[in-house]
Amino acid sequence: MLCLNKINKVFNAGTVDENRLFSDFSLTVNDGEFVAIVGSNGSGKTTLLNMICGTLIPDSGSITFGKTDILKLPEYKRARMIGRVLQSPQMGSCGSLTILENMALADNKNRPFNFAPAVNRQREDHYRSLLETCNMGLENRMGVLAGSLSGGQRQALALIIATMADIDLLILDEHTAALDPKSSETLMQITQRVVSEKKLTTLMVTHNLRFAVEYGSRLLMMHGGSAVMDISGEEKQRLAVEDILGKFNEISIECGN
Ligand SMILES: Nc1ncnc2c1ncn2[C@@H]1O[C@H](COP(=O)(O)OP(=O)(O)OP(=O)(O)O)[C@@H](O)[C@H]1O
Ligand SMILES: [Mg+2]
Repeated sequence: MLCLNKINKVFNAGTVDENRLFSDFSLTVNDGEFVAIVGSNGSGKTTLLNMICGTLIPDSGSITFGKTDILKLPEYKRARMIGRVLQSPQMGSCGSLTILENMALADNKNRPFNFAPAVNRQREDHYRSLLETCNMGLENRMGVLAGSLSGGQRQALALIIATMADIDLLILDEHTAALDPKSSETLMQITQRVVSEKKLTTLMVTHNLRFAVEYGSRLLMMHGGSAVMDISGEEKQRLAVEDILGKFNEISIECGN
């Protein structure tokens, strides 16, 4: 269980730009839950994910994952249990390495370094089978540089390599945002499959209300550092875009949009 308790976060404290984003914010995410997070620009979605991953430290409050107090761990140690895919296709893989090399690197995550070859050819069939699940023909292009892939292909690769190691938590921050509608849909289907196969606890930020409604087991709407909507269970399954559009318009108007 991921548990954020009474989180406070103020940016630029004591200046004219002071922004008290989170005040006693609490959130509990059960194991295996797939939470879609929506909300207007600047509502604190990325900051929330960054505090979980260790990129940002809250001013006060606690964050535990299972029995671990993750606030005590630096970002690189939290990365052992967290897989992350961000908005930019450039961020999730190394463009100057081939698909095979990227996968070999990800395969070695959490393993001790030694003098073995970086790419273990015996694992190639395993990598190929993972790529085949994307249905993008990437399994036949394992020797090409990741930098030469299209945005959609590269995000699919990023998702596969982010979830190759034995992680417990998957963090997706607008991972479909740079893609065309068809590629976004494909990536969402791959996401759904990986999340359910690996039973990953997942937090996915998206601006696509339809994805938030159709995918995931819970929907959270953020506004000004608070969750103004939190829907799960059967209510989530019955949810339609129109049901959340009204609330979204309300908060957007409040933001001056
Ligand atoms: N490192 C920082 N220093 C100062 N202010 C920050 C910092 N990071 C975030 N903020 C501020 O916190 C607020 C929330 O930002 P955040 O990136 O979490 O929003 P978001 O909900 O992810 O928005 P978007 O939908 O545009 O990605 C914004 O007003 C932003 O300017
Ligand atoms: Mg953001």
